[in-house]
Amino acid sequence: MDIIIKENYEEMSKYAANIIAGYIRSKPNCVLGLATGSTPIGTYKELIRMHKEEGLDFSQVTTFNLDEYLGVGMDLNKPYDMDQSYARFMYEELLKHINVKKENAYIPDGLSKNPKEHCLWYEEQIKKAGGIDLQLLGLGRDGHWGFNEPGSSLGSRTRVQALAEETLDDNYNAFYKKANIDRSEMPHFAITMGIGTILEAKNIMMIVNGSKKAEIVAKCLEGPITSQITSTAIQLHSGEITVVLDEEAASKLARIDHYKNIEKMKLKYGL
Ligand code: GLP
Repeated sequence: MDIIIKENYEEMSKYAANIIAGYIRSKPNCVLGLATGSTPIGTYKELIRMHKEEGLDFSQVTTFNLDEYLGVGMDLNKPYDMDQSYARFMYEELLKHINVKKENAYIPDGLSKNPKEHCLWYEEQIKKAGGIDLQLLGLGRDGHWGFNEPGSSLGSRTRVQALAEETLDDNYNAFYKKANIDRSEMPHFAITMGIGTILEAKNIMMIVNGSKKAEIVAKCLEGPITSQITSTAIQLHSGEITVVLDEEAASKLARIDHYKNIEKMKLKYGL
C-alpha cells in the first residue's frame, strides 16, 4: 500500500488526478470507478484542466459511480444547488466538461422502479465492461466507502443501504442545507456498490483531506479490519493501493514518519 502525504488539498488533488491521467494514457479504454463528495472536486477540476489544456482524452473511457441517493435523479430543470442527486453532481463537476461518452458513464439510478433488480444490472454492467481498472474512493467520517455504512458486510455487493445518522449530518451540511431542504426530507437510503464490489476493482486509490478525518484515516489504515469501519477492507485488497492524504488527514497516523520515509526513498531510488 502506497501512502502518500501531500502538503495540502490542492497538492493531494493534483497527485490523484495525475494517477488517473496515467491510467487513461496507458489504457485509453480503461474503466474508472468514480466517487462523489467534496473531496474529489479538486481532482476532477485538475482532470478537466488536463482535458482542456493537455488533450487528456476520455472518449474511450468508461466510468462507474459508487452510489446514488434513492429517490433522486438528475433534473436539469433545477439549478445545480437545488438538485442534490449524485448524477447531477457528476455532470456538473466532471462529466459535462470532458469528452466521456454519455452511454459510457454509469451512475446507479436513484429513480429506478425496481432498485433490487437495478443493483444486479449495475453489477452486470461492471462485469461486461471487464471490471474496474482504478476505483477512486473518498472516506466518510464513519469510515464508509460509497454508502457502506458501519455493519455492512465486507463481502457486500451493490444494493440499497440505509444511511447512518453521521452520514446524514455530513451530507446535509455539505449539500442539502444550502438548498434549504429540511434534513428530514433528504433521502435516508441510497444505492451503493458493496465492499465486495469495490474490492474487485483491479486497483484502488483513496483520497482524504482535513483534520476531521484524521482519526478515521488512522483507524482505516492502521486499525483492525472490521465491518464497523468498512474501509478497513482496504487492508484486504490485492491490487495496487494508493492512499493520498493531506497533512491534516494524515496527522493521527502512528507510522506517519515511516510512510514519509518510504516516499523519500522511492524518489531517491526512482522506484
Ligand atoms: C458520501 C459519499 C462517499 C464519500 C463521503 C465523504 O457519503 N457517498 O462516497 O466518500 O460522502 O464525503 P466528503 O468527500 O464530502 O467528505
